[in-house]
Amino acid sequence: MQVIKSVAEIREIVKEKQKNGKMVGFVPTMGALHKGHLSLVSSSKKDNDITVVSIFVNPTQFNDKEDLKNYPRMLDNDIQLLAPLNVDFIFAPTEEEMYPEPDERDFDFGNLDKVMEGAHRPGHFRGVAQIVSKLFAAIPANRAYFGDKDFQQVAVIKAMVKQLDIPIKIIPCPIVREEDGLALSSRNLRLNSTQRANAPLIYSTLKMSREFAQNNTIEDTRKWVCSTIDANSELKTEYFEIVDENTLCPVKSWEEQGNKVGCIAVQVGEIRLIDNIRFNL
Ligand code: PAF
Repeated sequence: MQVIKSVAEIREIVKEKQKNGKMVGFVPTMGALHKGHLSLVSSSKKDNDITVVSIFVNPTQFNDKEDLKNYPRMLDNDIQLLAPLNVDFIFAPTEEEMYPEPDERDFDFGNLDKVMEGAHRPGHFRGVAQIVSKLFAAIPANRAYFGDKDFQQVAVIKAMVKQLDIPIKIIPCPIVREEDGLALSSRNLRLNSTQRANAPLIYSTLKMSREFAQNNTIEDTRKWVCSTIDANSELKTEYFEIVDENTLCPVKSWEEQGNKVGCIAVQVGEIRLIDNIRFNL
């Protein structure tokens, strides 16, 4: 496993491998790796000859400076976690390498980057599109793997590759959870023990909402989820929306066509957690 820091070098390596007929899988991360990331790596290993993992905490996608400052950085530990999985290359650039000059690009993904996370974290998806497009230029892989926990991010990235005509296949992968249901996230590391003990209520409520939805309207289900979670003094719902899986537009009635996904953001003290669940009624 080689750790590469230069864009020119990783691009050269990937192109050379592809010239020799190898399929390259890419797992972009911000480090502080957990089992969710490792499952993306396993999927890439299964599908491809070569797997590249990037580790870069991207400043442009943080709308909250404190969040950026406190984001866990543990490169040595991450390298140790990836070694037994036989990852071929880790790309761990510096900020100067990724942004030799400020990225002024704007993107328009219609509704996809305006709602939910887009509405509550201004500029977040602009930053995601900036870094992922740069990473895709540095690592022109055949496939790239993203976790479904960041459901809206996957929708935005799919729209971005279509818009920019980037020939990388986006592979969404299932959410990995702790035994008590909490979706794995690098931010879980920052929960104190009381917060950690209460956080599983997010997913248990989402699961129960599928039962509740059998006999209730979308709006009542939405309100029920928010009030159930907010009844716990450690948790505060920022939003819970039931949206169409493709357009991310809020769904008004269960009878509407298309698959529906309930997406939630919850503030747990200083930490903001997101999760989602499919409604197949
Ligand atoms: O999901 C993440 O960890 C980040 O948003 C990504 C895709 C690595 C871009 O910085």
